[in-house]
Amino acid sequence: MHTEALGEADGSAGAVVRTRLEDRPAWLLTTHNTTVCLCLGPEDTLLLPYWGASGQTTAAADYLPERMGNRPSERAFVDGLPLAYPSHGEASFVEPCLMVSRADGSRGVRLEFVADRVSAVGGRAVLELVFIDRLLDLVVEQRFVVFGELDLVARSVTVRNSGAEALLLERVLSAALPLPPAEYDAWTLHGQWGREFELRSRPLQPGKFVTESRRGTSSHEAHPWFAVRPRGEAAEHVGQVWFGSLAWSGNWVAVFEAERNDAVQIAMGIQPFDFGWRLEPGADFVSPELVGGYSERGLGGASRLLHAYEQTVQLPANQRERPRPVLYNSWEATHFEVHAEHQLELARRAAAIGVELFVVDDGWFGARDHDRAGLGDWTVNTRKLPGGLRQLVNDVHGLGMQFGIWVEPEMVNPDSDLYRAHPDWTYHAIGREATLGRNQLVLNFARPDVQAAIYQQLRNLLTEHGTIEFVKWDHNRAWTEVGWPERPMQQREVWVRHVRAVYELMGRLRAEFPELSIESCSGGGGRSDLGILRWTDQVWTSDNTDAADRLNIQYGYSRAHSPRTMVNWVTDVPNEQTGRVAPLEFRFHVAMQGVLGIGGDIGRWSGADVHIARQLVAAYKEIRPLVQNGRQYWLLAPAAIGPCAVQYVSADLRETAVFLYQVRGLRGAGVRRVRLHGLDPARRYRRVADGVESTGAALMGAGVPLDLVSARAPTLDWRSRIDVWRGP
Ligand code: DGJ
Repeated sequence: MHTEALGEADGSAGAVVRTRLEDRPAWLLTTHNTTVCLCLGPEDTLLLPYWGASGQTTAAADYLPERMGNRPSERAFVDGLPLAYPSHGEASFVEPCLMVSRADGSRGVRLEFVADRVSAVGGRAVLELVFIDRLLDLVVEQRFVVFGELDLVARSVTVRNSGAEALLLERVLSAALPLPPAEYDAWTLHGQWGREFELRSRPLQPGKFVTESRRGTSSHEAHPWFAVRPRGEAAEHVGQVWFGSLAWSGNWVAVFEAERNDAVQIAMGIQPFDFGWRLEPGADFVSPELVGGYSERGLGGASRLLHAYEQTVQLPANQRERPRPVLYNSWEATHFEVHAEHQLELARRAAAIGVELFVVDDGWFGARDHDRAGLGDWTVNTRKLPGGLRQLVNDVHGLGMQFGIWVEPEMVNPDSDLYRAHPDWTYHAIGREATLGRNQLVLNFARPDVQAAIYQQLRNLLTEHGTIEFVKWDHNRAWTEVGWPERPMQQREVWVRHVRAVYELMGRLRAEFPELSIESCSGGGGRSDLGILRWTDQVWTSDNTDAADRLNIQYGYSRAHSPRTMVNWVTDVPNEQTGRVAPLEFRFHVAMQGVLGIGGDIGRWSGADVHIARQLVAAYKEIRPLVQNGRQYWLLAPAAIGPCAVQYVSADLRETAVFLYQVRGLRGAGVRRVRLHGLDPARRYRRVADGVESTGAALMGAGVPLDLVSARAPTLDWRSRIDVWRGP
C-alpha cells in the first residue's frame, strides 16, 4: 500500500491512498472527517462502495467487512452494484452517465481500466483513473480533487476520442453517487420567478425522481444542488447528509433512482435532453465538476462546507477576500427612466447613507425606453445621459463610490440595430416563428462572430467611459427554438457551447479588467449556480424584495451558496411584488444577511428614514466580515408564524451575530430560547448592545431568549433585531 498525503504540513490537504480490495485496485480519498472508497468491480466497472465518516484507517477492507454481492443468478450483470459511473453498454440497468454512438448507429461503451495517476495540484490531492474502450478508441478519465479541510471531493470526467472516426456523445454526466440499501429522502431547491430557492424534501421510492433544467440556464424552477438524508432525518445541526452542487449554468439533470434492492443511485450532470456532441478524432469533452461531500452535521453542516468552498476555492480569486461593497441599485426607483440628473441625485443620497457602489440598472443605452427595444445596442443614450456615461461615472467616483452598470449581453430585441444588421445571430429554426420572451430573443453565443461582437461592445463600454468597477450581468428569458441551421452538425451542441462562451467572455473581461466584479442575475435568481460563481462575485437571488418572502429565499439559497454571494436590496413599501408593508428596520435586517444593497427611491425617503438607513449601513459594515466570511448557522428556519433566527460566527470564534426575526407573532406565545452554535465553549462573550455576558458553553447550552415581543412593542408582527456578541 502506498499512501500519498499531499499539501501543507498543517494537514489542510486531503490524501489519496492507493490500495487493493479483494485483490483488485482500490483507492481511498481521505479528508479531515470523511473517506471515499473507490475500487474496480467486475468487468472493470468503477465502484464507489463507501462515502462516509472516516474510519481512521487506510485499509479499504476495513470499510467493507461484508463482501459486496450481486444476485448469484445474475453474476454476469453489474446491476445492484454501487457504480460510480454507469455507462450505456455495460450490463447494468440504472441511469447511465455515459452514452456514445458511432456513425454506423452502433452504441455502447465497455471500459477497461488502464492506469491511475495521483498528483498534487495547487496543494490538493488529485486522483485520475484512466479507462479505455478499445473498440471505440475512447478514453475516459475520472478525476477526483480532494479538499481535505472542506470534506469535499470535486468530480469530473474527460472523454477523449483517440481513434480515427468521429463519435457522437449522447450524454456525459459528471458523476454518479451510489448509496447503500436504506430509506432516504432527497432535499432539493425549487421555485419560479419571484419565489426562488424553496427547500423541499421527498422520500425516494422505487423508481426515479428527476430534477432538472431545460431552459438554457440553471433556472428558477430547480437548482443544481441536492442533499440526501436517511428517511425522516430533518435536523439542521445533526444527522447524515450526502450532498452535491453542480458547477454548471446551463441545462442540467439530477436523477435519483431507488433500485429494486433499495440502494440509491444519484446521477448528475449536463442535461442529456436535446444534447449531442460530435467528438472529432483527437478531441476531448470535459464535464463540469460535481462538488460533493458527506457531513454528519445536518443540512447546516453540509451548507457550511459548500460556503467555505465558494469562499476559498470557487469565487474569483482576486475579489474573494475583499469585502463586498454596500451597493445602491436604481432599478426600482427609476425603471427605464434613467436620466443623468436624477441618477446623480440618487447617487448623492446613496453616498450620504454610506453606500460604496452605485449601480445604474436597465435603461441607459440604445433606444431602451421600455423592454421592447434596445437590447443588443450597448451604446450610451445621450438623450438620457447628455454628458455621456463618463460624466456620471466621474460624478459617482467624485462622491467616493464605485460605479456599476447593468447589461444583458446574451439578448437582443428585434427592435435594435444589432438585430436589424444580423437577424441570423439569434437561435432560430428554419420555417418556425421565434417565440419572444420579454420581447427579446437569445443570441447564439455558440457563434464566434457573436462572441466577438459582444466582447467588443462590452470592452468599449468598460474602456470608453472611465473606470467601471462593477457589471450586473442579466439574462431575462428561457431559450426556445434553440437551433443553428447553418451548422447542422452542431445544433445540439449549442446548449453547452453557449454556456462555455459566457464563462469565457466573463473570464476574458476579468483578465483585462482585474478590478471588475460581476453580479449574476437572470430575472432574479435564474442563474446562480456554482458554475457562474467561478466567474461572478455575487448573485441577485430574486426580483422579489419583500422582506418576509426574502427570508425564505435566503434560507433556501444559503443551503447551497455562501452569504457573501447573496445580494439583497432594501426597497420601498408597499413592496413592488407583494404589496406588503414591512418596517424599514426589518427590511434592512433581512438585507444584511448577505451583501447589503439599497434599491428604493431614496430621493423620496424622509429624513428619519435616511437617518435609520445611515445607522444601519454603519452597523452592517461593523459585522460585514462576520457575515461575508464567517460561518452561518440557521437556528430557526423562517416560519409563517413565530420567530426565526440565523447566526454568523467569525473564523476565530471571537465574534458572533444573531439575527432574529418575527414576521407574524402569536398572541400570548411564551418566549422561546434558541441555542447558539459554533462558539468557543470556554470563551466569555459580551452582548455589545447591553453588556450581558455569558460563556460560549452556556450560550450553546441554555441558549438565548428570543424576546422579540416586548411590552413596549406596538405589535407582535415585523419584529427584528441583530445581537452582536464579542469575546476577548
Ligand atoms: C431583471 C432583474 O432581475 C432586475 O433586477 C432588473 O435588472 C431588470 N431585469 C431590468 O430589466
